[in-house]
Amino acid sequence: MPTKSTKRDLLSIADLGKDLLPILKRARRLKAERRRGVLRPALRGKNVAMIFEKPSTRTRTSFEVGVNDLGGHALYMSSKDLQLGRGETIADTARVLSRYVDGIVYRAFRHQDEAELARHASIPVINALDDREHPCQVTADLLTLYECWKGMFGGHRLAWVGDGNNVHHSLLLGCAMVGLDLASATPEEYRPNPEIVDRAQALARTSGAQLQFYPDPVTAVTEADAVYTDVWVSMGEEAEQRDREAAFAGFQLNSELLAHARPGALVLHDLPAHRGLEITNEVIDGPQSVVWDQAENRLHAQKAILEELLG
Ligand code: CP
Ligand code: NVA
Repeated sequence: MPTKSTKRDLLSIADLGKDLLPILKRARRLKAERRRGVLRPALRGKNVAMIFEKPSTRTRTSFEVGVNDLGGHALYMSSKDLQLGRGETIADTARVLSRYVDGIVYRAFRHQDEAELARHASIPVINALDDREHPCQVTADLLTLYECWKGMFGGHRLAWVGDGNNVHHSLLLGCAMVGLDLASATPEEYRPNPEIVDRAQALARTSGAQLQFYPDPVTAVTEADAVYTDVWVSMGEEAEQRDREAAFAGFQLNSELLAHARPGALVLHDLPAHRGLEITNEVIDGPQSVVWDQAENRLHAQKAILEELLG
């Protein structure tokens, strides 16, 4: 079991630092190997607890399958079924799980809870989405673009259309880390957290990525090589549905908006999609969509992350 000083968490995609590109390369190799039926048991004898406070299809399944592929064992735990749901503290949960398992995957409502678990666990904690970031998603998104663009991020432009929250935050940091230009359009009241923007701009100064912010989707999408959107109402924000749908009304990724991007521009969505709201059927099911590759790449990207942090 690693000691607190040596264990490595993934709370923000920025925590991967210089390892992000090697992780993408490793994920490509793991993907090719899996297709040939080759699995490497890098987690043999290791157990990974997965605590979910919110629903999940992709994250839960891809982590379970990924840990299994690597020869380890994954334990799914709904937070409602743990004593956590009855008031046991996050710190005590972290201390106890650290005595049984080798890593914790945690989908939390609040980033501060994610950080609290990591602070008190002596084993790596991996953020499986919280209200601040979704680093595993964006690692898979970058893997998808890396494959489509033959490893070339520089010279490409990605556009974001939608909410400036968790997925967008990780994308800002991830693009800044790999040197990919990102033009974001968000409604004024759903702009990204300024602290994360500052951190991303600092990373972009090193990589040379250009990060631009617009109130208008057409400007962001113009000349883009790929366009990415996410739901307008994130998990836990259901009470704001009516206000959000009004604020995001002009931000739908439809054929008309996509026509402003470069011909053949890729279409990304982290899923689940609300068809007819943030994206139309025509676009998500159209020839430019790579959303199913993106979803598959969750598996390969997370296996590479697990090998790096727990292997
Ligand atoms: N994209 C994503 O994280 O999907 P799930 O909520 O299904 O895990
Ligand atoms: N922004 C979305 C992402 C879902 C994977 C949410 O937090 O619900």
